[in-house]
Amino acid sequence: MDVIEPSVFARQKSNGQIITMQSIEIINGLNKSYDLIVDVGCGDGDVSKNFLGKHIPHKQIVAIDCLPDMLGYARIHNSDDQIEYVLQDMGQKWPDMSPRVRELESKVDLIFSNLALAYIPDKRQLVDTFGRLLSTGGVFHANIELMEDINKRLASYGRPPPKQQWYQSPEKQLDVWRQSLSSDNQFLVKQLEIMDVCWPTDRQKMIDFMPIVISKYRQFFTDRKDFDNEFNDHLWDTAFDALVNPTADTPNPRAWQQFLADTNIKEVKRYHKLLRITAIKQ
Ligand SMILES: C[S@@+](CC[C@H](N)C(=O)[O-])C[C@H]1O[C@@H](n2cnc3c(N)ncnc32)[C@H](O)[C@@H]1O
Repeated sequence: MDVIEPSVFARQKSNGQIITMQSIEIINGLNKSYDLIVDVGCGDGDVSKNFLGKHIPHKQIVAIDCLPDMLGYARIHNSDDQIEYVLQDMGQKWPDMSPRVRELESKVDLIFSNLALAYIPDKRQLVDTFGRLLSTGGVFHANIELMEDINKRLASYGRPPPKQQWYQSPEKQLDVWRQSLSSDNQFLVKQLEIMDVCWPTDRQKMIDFMPIVISKYRQFFTDRKDFDNEFNDHLWDTAFDALVNPTADTPNPRAWQQFLADTNIKEVKRYHKLLRITAIKQ
């Protein structure tokens, strides 16, 4: 994935905290014990330390991220005796995972992930990995940002049709998760729910956040040149418009450029569809 600057990311966080606390209530409500917790895509470690660490009884948390700078930041700002920060790209196949991750096989009581799994393209492989890591009866719980339906919007802008349907609709993304979780009967799905959230975001945070949004769309392009050539110029307008103007009858094909030009806009509301999953390893 693209590099996210840890300090930029840390300033984006306040919007996600209600979601995280709801998740903790759901997890504790299952009345299970969670000695070993894995936090996938832990980012700056704030959720690992201050949410999971403080509100879910545990013995150890293994907090995983694929960005060395993010883990460096987490180790400085959110260190804790019970948290081990581990560098690992969770999009890798199981045999290619580090020995540290593989030695957790069948030992994990809770896999938690907050706003990170949208960045990992192969959901089926990811679910297989989670199935390997969890003990029988272990819990997988995640909040996942769904990507907006960019195909539809690009068409309505009257722009040349893309060479292929690069982006999945939210319904398709939900379907991919449903099918991945039901394959091989590894999981009993307790919750697969889409939530609509609206997050007010001030101007500078929006400017900092847009590259993170764009980086999620790059995963569909095997060749980065394809992405740059075909979409880069209008993806920023399209993706921004979809975030701030999701139900408009008339999409605005210059939304991002107009926002940048109008310095009187001090805040925007961004609308996300989040998928919440709770599943039990059988
Ligand atoms: C939006 S942040 C969320 C961080 C944290 N979970 C939170 O809620 O504050 C997404 C994180 O997922 C991590 N990530 C993305 N792809 C990943 C992958 N393939 N393996 C591990 N971590 C990944 C990113 O580096 C980033 O730190």
